[in-house]
Amino acid sequence: MSRSVSVEPELPEDADAAGTHDGIDDRATITPYRDGPLIVRGNFRLVDQDGNEIDPGRQTIALCRCGKSGIKPFCDGAHKRSGFSAPSAPSRPRPAARILREAREPAGEG
Ligand code: FES
Repeated sequence: MSRSVSVEPELPEDADAAGTHDGIDDRATITPYRDGPLIVRGNFRLVDQDGNEIDPGRQTIALCRCGKSGIKPFCDGAHKRSGFSAPSAPSRPRPAARILREAREPAGEG
């Protein structure tokens, strides 16, 4: 079963331009926008946690990461009104990433 969303999700103005896929590499790219949504481009499937398809309605979508959208999982621009703030890049490495990196590069080697 698939669901469709009738409300038009909001995309940042440069969402289609930044990281535009030129047909050479159509893998999904997920970009956390500064103070905004997760922009998903490329070849992706959107499913709910039960595995049901969610019709994205377009090839580039904005997924809410502020929690304020009225059309979750899509962004509706509510992050602007709520003053949501988050960097684009990670503010610090995930602890698991450090542990994995140290396991691959034991101290004293190199
Ligand atoms: S990130 Fe845009 S409404 Fe949540």
